[in-house]
Amino acid sequence: MDYSILVNKDNPLSRAYIPNTLENAHSEYKENILLDNKALEAFQELKREALRYGYHIDIVSGYRDYDYQEKIYNKLLEEKGFTYAITRIASPGKSEHQTGLAFDLNDSKTSVRDSFEFTDAYKWLKENAYKYGFILRYPKGKSDITGYKFEPWHYR
Ligand code: DAL
Ligand code: ZN
Repeated sequence: MDYSILVNKDNPLSRAYIPNTLENAHSEYKENILLDNKALEAFQELKREALRYGYHIDIVSGYRDYDYQEKIYNKLLEEKGFTYAITRIASPGKSEHQTGLAFDLNDSKTSVRDSFEFTDAYKWLKENAYKYGFILRYPKGKSDITGYKFEPWHYR
């Protein structure tokens, strides 16, 4: 695994790219989530520490293969149109989720939500995630650089 791998709109992965370090994350909120084993180990430490403060966070989306990314991208494209979709979901090959190093967090079983920004768990993560090697990948006010709307849930 190349831990400095860069994946974005200008640096895509091929359909065939599948990391060989994937492991089941055993998320409390969603079944069969896969993540790179080292990222998972670091996340589990973060999760344990967050829990000590009373923040019950877990992964609701981890590794996504090229085909699945294509499926969810096309679905949003159909429902909401290009301008909406392109700033919210990466087109196939261009999602960090395909690296196995990125994941979406929540503090309940629901899928990702904008209001996560206003939780104490989010505030704690923002100040502490870097200690475990993670960064908030699509921060507020940086859409012109990242190409995506603010995602308070997406860490790499
Ligand atoms: N929502 C992020 C940008 C992704 O689809 O990878
Ligand atoms: Zn994400």
